[in-house]
Amino acid sequence: MRQSADQIPAPLAEALRGRFLVFDGPDGSGKSTQLKRFMQACKRSGIDAIEVREPGGTEVGERIRAALLDHLERDEMSLRCEMLLYMASRAQLCEQVIAPALKQGRLVVADRFISSTLVYQGHAGGIPTEEIDAVGRIATQGVNPDATLIFDIDQQTAASRLNPLLDRMESKGADFHARVRAGYKALIERGGEYAAVDARGEPDEVFGNIVSVLESRFVDR
Ligand code: TMP
Repeated sequence: MRQSADQIPAPLAEALRGRFLVFDGPDGSGKSTQLKRFMQACKRSGIDAIEVREPGGTEVGERIRAALLDHLERDEMSLRCEMLLYMASRAQLCEQVIAPALKQGRLVVADRFISSTLVYQGHAGGIPTEEIDAVGRIATQGVNPDATLIFDIDQQTAASRLNPLLDRMESKGADFHARVRAGYKALIERGGEYAAVDARGEPDEVFGNIVSVLESRFVDR
């Protein structure tokens, strides 16, 4: 299989030293599978890289993750509480893991970051973007992604890839997911750090798209 031979081209490998990349996209977009594959390719290509997951990635963060994804019996968690818990987990992760790794020249690849909060609690939930950006600045203390890859996929394909054992976030219904998709579209339109990756094809094709997007960002041609 091609996957066992995935390589990151040498000029890109060099350009990725000390960078911070985020893989993000709707539930079922395939980003986590591709992230694993990308990390294996980094290893094979001699790139010193670490992977972090959001929410979580530290002992404190994993506890916050459990609180966020649990089904509560009596109360609904308020939207602002939810947003602040995601940010609290992120603050711990930035200070304890991401900032030190970047300082050592390692590549850091995150499964979700502020982009997810902007989409899920912001665009889909209703908290104004400026408020999330303001809390984000407090949480990250200037640890900003060099690129946030948004896995772009149609709703039907995403739904067909979802695990039937849905957690609290994933069981929110079609309307919510439509707003999530619109939120990711809005981020792609913002440009800057946000870049779309066409995630509709077969895994080999999607992996190729990731490499192309990164080359167009970080390697002079
Ligand atoms: P995961 O399935 O990628 O581990 O993500 C868990 C869920 O958490 C997913 O449905 C998206 C949601 N989420 C937010 O709502 N806001 C956030 O800031 C983050 C990081 C995740």
